[in-house]
Amino acid sequence: MSVYWSRNSKVNHSWGRETKWEPGRGGGGILIGTEPRVPLVNSHELQLRFLSPDDIDQVKVLCRTWFPIDYPDTWYQEITSNPRFYSLAATLQGRMIGLIVAETKELGNLAKEDRTILATCFRKGTKVGYILSLGVCEEFRKQGIASLLLENLITHLTSDAFMKVKALYLHVLTTNSQAITFYERRGFSVHSFLPYYYAINGKRKDGFMYVLYLNGGHPTWGALDYAKSCAIIFCSISPHRFLSFIWRKFQLVWGSTAPKLRRAIHTS
Ligand SMILES: CC(C)(COP(=O)(O)OP(=O)(O)OC[C@H]1O[C@@H](n2cnc3c(N)ncnc32)[C@H](O)[C@@H]1OP(=O)(O)O)[C@@H](O)C(=O)NCCC(=O)NCCS
Repeated sequence: MSVYWSRNSKVNHSWGRETKWEPGRGGGGILIGTEPRVPLVNSHELQLRFLSPDDIDQVKVLCRTWFPIDYPDTWYQEITSNPRFYSLAATLQGRMIGLIVAETKELGNLAKEDRTILATCFRKGTKVGYILSLGVCEEFRKQGIASLLLENLITHLTSDAFMKVKALYLHVLTTNSQAITFYERRGFSVHSFLPYYYAINGKRKDGFMYVLYLNGGHPTWGALDYAKSCAIIFCSISPHRFLSFIWRKFQLVWGSTAPKLRRAIHTS
């Protein structure tokens, strides 16, 4: 599923023609009375748009509801006005019901422990994406809104202009099983355990770092990974091409040694 948008225009994410939406998983074409039930993500009332400074108050309320962390005002100002951030909101009839905030960073500018996301062969110029926040209002969860927002971010980061972005990562509380399941089912894997990573209400809480590799990015390989990729290469070799390769090499060697051999036999 892909959606097109521009920074200046609202995106109408619309496939269905039905104006009413019904909560819950509804397949397109299910009829309630005479009206087809349209999944929320297909409703033309659902729009995706970038955040603007006018959204600060709404974003503050949502983030304070979703996250146990108190962000400073400057953070809200930055994510709603600085184009460095990819801050996308999902709105339903004008009401903001979900948002994703991400940014790209130079690998070299990351904290030392975060740089281990990628193998050491990725050097200067390599970038990584970081999800600062992703949330959906409780009453609109499990209807594909977060998936839609994440999918749009990934589509953006895998476009030609962002080929240098080799990984997308995030931090999550170890107790946030809903988010952990969400990310794991979307291909993210745990990269590291971060003891006491969060400070919440004066208490330290553990976190995980989750990573999704993009555009050919990969972590440092161990012996098993090398063995695996050798096996893949070996299995991908066609037996016919392999045998003709060996035969060509044999002919080459035979062609150069046979005359010498014949001469040696002749003289002896
Ligand atoms: C984690 C979070 C963002 C997920 O949002 P969401 O909108 O419920 O996510 P989605 O609907 O896209 O996916 C959730 C599940 O609903 C399912 N789903 C998708 N469309 C559905 C539909 N129409 N009907 C029912 N279920 C549906 C998905 O299959 C998915 O299940 P799966 O993970 O087993 O595949 C949300 O729980 C949240 O805001 N949590 C609080 C904030 C938070 O912790 N954020 C993460 C911090 S890192």
